[in-house]
Amino acid sequence: MMNWKEIYESKLTTAQEAIKAIRDGDKVVTGFGCGEPFEIERALIENYQSYHDVQIINMLTLGDSPWCRPEMKGHFVLNTLFASTSNRKAISNGVCEFTTSHFYEIPEIIKNYICPRVSIVMVSPPDEHGYVSFGTTVDYTKGTTDYCEIVIAQVNKYMPRTFGNSIKHVREFTYFVEHDEKLPEVKSVEISDTEMKIGKYCASLINDGDCLQLGIGGIPNAVCAQLWDKKDLGLHSELVGDGVVDLLEAGIINNKKKQTNNGRTVLGAAFGSEKLNNYINNNPSVEMHPIDYVNNPSEIAKNDNMVSINSCLQVDLLGQVVSDTVGLNQFSAVGGQVDFVRGATMSKGGRSIIAMPSTAKNGLISRIVPLITEGSAVTTPRNDVNYVVTEYGIAQLKGKTLKERAKALILITHPKFRPHLILEYQKRFNEEPFTKEELKEQFKDVKEHIIDAADQLIDEIKDKISK
Ligand code: COA
Repeated sequence: MMNWKEIYESKLTTAQEAIKAIRDGDKVVTGFGCGEPFEIERALIENYQSYHDVQIINMLTLGDSPWCRPEMKGHFVLNTLFASTSNRKAISNGVCEFTTSHFYEIPEIIKNYICPRVSIVMVSPPDEHGYVSFGTTVDYTKGTTDYCEIVIAQVNKYMPRTFGNSIKHVREFTYFVEHDEKLPEVKSVEISDTEMKIGKYCASLINDGDCLQLGIGGIPNAVCAQLWDKKDLGLHSELVGDGVVDLLEAGIINNKKKQTNNGRTVLGAAFGSEKLNNYINNNPSVEMHPIDYVNNPSEIAKNDNMVSINSCLQVDLLGQVVSDTVGLNQFSAVGGQVDFVRGATMSKGGRSIIAMPSTAKNGLISRIVPLITEGSAVTTPRNDVNYVVTEYGIAQLKGKTLKERAKALILITHPKFRPHLILEYQKRFNEEPFTKEELKEQFKDVKEHIIDAADQLIDEIKDKISK
């Protein structure tokens, strides 16, 4: 019987050799985010003329989606489950395929509906017992290695070794390709004043002992920056970025009050920089698990006082939330938004928060609108939505009538867009939303904001003309 080292060595090969196992017409699922096996993908791209009709399935790439280049037509097509900067345009042009699904269902959808024959993943080097770790990227990735006929792993010393349900023995892979390269990073950007205000309102809805789900980006980082006076927080989240590391190190998040995985942070994937990867490396207090566990609403709900915080692009006056499309264009995906909104709502004492800046496009458009843009898809239905937060405050929607919802949302709209929404309210409900006194309060700053907005518009037009 071979020992694990002999097994590993017998499977060790080059990327160029390993990819010979891929056939025309294959479906190939790949690890995503910080765990995308770029070395093996580069070999496929270099040899693209040898392949025909191969579909690459990936959740969300931080790479440049080379599959979408014109010369790849007929050779490779990308089927992504989350649009990103490098493939958004290709989706709109019909070059890239997009599959929509709640994140917790993705392992099942890939296994039973898409049915890939090949899985390519990135793992850490084996430990002294012959186990490699899926490190930053367990989510749907680890599961694919249970059912795909061919499993090729890029072994990368930069992949952290993580705990939880994130390891596999070397005997369960077809090929290993050793190639060290730094993982792609999602660096924290500076938190804006608007995001800070939003973070403060969100923090006001968070109590000591709550268990949090935080997405990635400016708003979750702004929320983290406002949690320093809290204690005994928990973390059960599909993805996190760097924003949580300082809170974990300081013990503000200590997972002490969690009903499941007590004392441990639970994640499906890490989406940060070296700071986060160093924190999760060899850290038994962080458990990485498949996403059908992490994002399953009934698992989420097992923790009391679960608070989900997610962002969106548009909310209409009924409270319907659009987070992943702008008209007919696919901007991102639902990801785990609905999984966590529902899990938090089902949790004893739980709350769901949708937080967003009140405007977009440099303040030129309102994110709170009378009607959602034609062609956009509702991401989170109105019946699921409870707290909506902007830099102007908090609108609590559950249990409210349609009129009360609309009024609460108008009150957190940017003041320069409130007159328009008030008119739309009047049209829709055939009555005034506010008393004369309330209106005076509403319109207090409007004149000033409208003059600012007009000045900004004129500057932008001048700028366009001069170009
Ligand atoms: N109409 C048109 N464009 C809009 C818009 C609207 N209503 N709202 C935002 N935009 C534009 C912005 O101006 C910005 O464009 P720019 O970069 O050219 O200025 C762009 O869309 C992105 O908006 P922004 O709010 O900055 O995006 P973000 O990076 O903060 O991400 C979501 C916000 C909603 C897209 C993101 O959180 C998401 O994809 N959510 C769904 C998945 C999810 O919630 N998963 C669970 C947590 S991981």
